Amino acid sequence: MNPKKHAAEKAVEFIEDGMVVGLGTGSTAYWAIQKIAQRIQEGLRIRAVASSRDSEELANKLGIPIVPFSEIEWIDITIDGADEVDTHLNLIKGGGGALVREKILAINSKRFFVIVDESKQVEHLGQFPLPVEIVPFAANLTMNQLKELGCSTRIRMSNDEAYFTDNGNIIVDCNFEKIVKPIELNKQINLIPGVVDNGLFTRMVSSLVIGYNDGSTRIIDQH
Ligand code: 5RP
Repeated sequence: MNPKKHAAEKAVEFIEDGMVVGLGTGSTAYWAIQKIAQRIQEGLRIRAVASSRDSEELANKLGIPIVPFSEIEWIDITIDGADEVDTHLNLIKGGGGALVREKILAINSKRFFVIVDESKQVEHLGQFPLPVEIVPFAANLTMNQLKELGCSTRIRMSNDEAYFTDNGNIIVDCNFEKIVKPIELNKQINLIPGVVDNGLFTRMVSSLVIGYNDGSTRIIDQH
């Protein structure tokens, strides 16, 4: 049993003919992309946009029609994973480094479905270090500003070198341990010059789909 796959496949049931679909990034979104491809082979007609080069590549490989953003005005449904989700459906995202593009897709979607296994549910966000995408210029100074907000910081690395996002920026993983006021923190972080965006997704989720080890799923809708 794969709870990520179950959650993903449940969410894909909400896609209908003619929709513009946003593709998330990560190991849970992977299963959604696979299922969308299967439904297309069975006759589903959609157009898709991707939140990362990786997801776009996967979609291309599987025959999912990716359209340029200039061809769409909005997205009907985006399906994406999360690193943590709290009881108010606030999220930490960006473990896979795609948070900026993911947030652009989410905010421009009529419905934003988040797919997780039950291990991602938390009372308070913050155990998972919060990814913040910053421009590389004077990164040490931007990190000092982030530390002022009460976290320890670490530049994300990949093979002994700084990890670069699809946007040519770097990621600082900020360990707050416990985030009590995610809405306020999101605003404070994004006011720092040099910050592009951060992985707090507040008040954005339409529906949370949780997959369990026994193969069952549960959907929680935002009120
Ligand atoms: C990528 C993300 C992912 O959705 C998040 O990291 C969850 O990943 P996974 O589904 O692999 O657990 O935000 O930037």
